[in-house]
Amino acid sequence: MKLNRIEIEHPFILAPMAGITNSPFRRLLREYGSSVMISELVSANGIEYASDRTFDLLKFHESERPLGLQIFGEDEENLVKACQFVEKQGANFVDLNLGCPVPKVVKKGAGSAMCRNPLALGKILDAMVKSVKIPVTIKIRTGWDANTRNAVEIVRMAADVGVNWVAIHGRTRAQGYSGDADWDFIGEVKAKSPLPIIGNGDVCTPEQAVERYRTYGVDAVMIGRGALRNPFLFEQSVALLNGTTSAPVTAERFLELFAKQRRYLSETFNEKGALLHARKFLAWYSSGYPGSADFRKKVFHIPTEQELWDTSDAFFSVALRSRDMSYLSEPFLMGGHG
Ligand SMILES: Cc1cc2nc3c(=O)[nH]c(=O)nc-3n(C[C@H](O)[C@H](O)[C@H](O)COP(=O)(O)O)c2cc1C
Repeated sequence: MKLNRIEIEHPFILAPMAGITNSPFRRLLREYGSSVMISELVSANGIEYASDRTFDLLKFHESERPLGLQIFGEDEENLVKACQFVEKQGANFVDLNLGCPVPKVVKKGAGSAMCRNPLALGKILDAMVKSVKIPVTIKIRTGWDANTRNAVEIVRMAADVGVNWVAIHGRTRAQGYSGDADWDFIGEVKAKSPLPIIGNGDVCTPEQAVERYRTYGVDAVMIGRGALRNPFLFEQSVALLNGTTSAPVTAERFLELFAKQRRYLSETFNEKGALLHARKFLAWYSSGYPGSADFRKKVFHIPTEQELWDTSDAFFSVALRSRDMSYLSEPFLMGGHG
């Protein structure tokens, strides 16, 4: 299927998440089914000032394609330069973060604050689109607060200046991560939109992913936190959509996924960095399994990578035999950059 100029295999997409959707995790989940990859947000000002940390965030592996690098900022000149840098890096598209609710970002006028002034934003987006050949996409929230849900206006303006698609997290900036994502509202925006719309928010199961896709007429469904508790969510959603069955998640398949993640982490980070990332992911993956609370406590004190993976292999080999699926709907990670 084609979402404007970007071709994707199916409509289920991993959401960008700072500190999470780094290159090793994107490689992993591209392999396990997400049809597109988008990096975490990267500062356009940081690119301009050439910080090493920023450049590290912009590295990617060929197997992640189609891949977009997400930028944020408030300064037109730096955003244009960042688009050109992303293009030079070889990404397939550049995504602008217009949903970040974090005070430090919003105070400068970046992230979700940019949607408060559609006219000024339109001028910046126009300059960004004109500055590169690759498509420019945006990710927004429904609006600033309950009284100013201007997503329809933003989408129309984005269409006028040639943006490729709009991803919408179904909450206002004022909501942060509280309340539920408003899929009825996302459906209304889609019905009035000349552009492909990607709906996002609170999708945790394959049933929800397919239901949101079919009910709200969106062009694709973006899944963030749900994929951290179930990295098989994309292949399961595709199978459900197509009326086929996905392979059961056996201990062997889970351990195979870990082994790949371990390899990708160690190819990207030094031992300490790989260990820090591995602990986080293992803690998320373990939720809902018998003994997971003890496992999580243990994981954060294990000093070496080898010991960590050995402990995890032992835990999951047994734990995977029974899982309480109600854990999937428990809220977690109630904060982020979009
Ligand atoms: C820890 C965390 C970090 C996030 N970082 C980003 C980011 O860098 N860029 C962005 O556009 N959205 C970011 N988000 C927002 C997600 O992309 C998504 O819109 C939000 O989590 C709702 O989707 P979900 O309910 O499927 O998780 C982040 C969310 C979380 C939880």
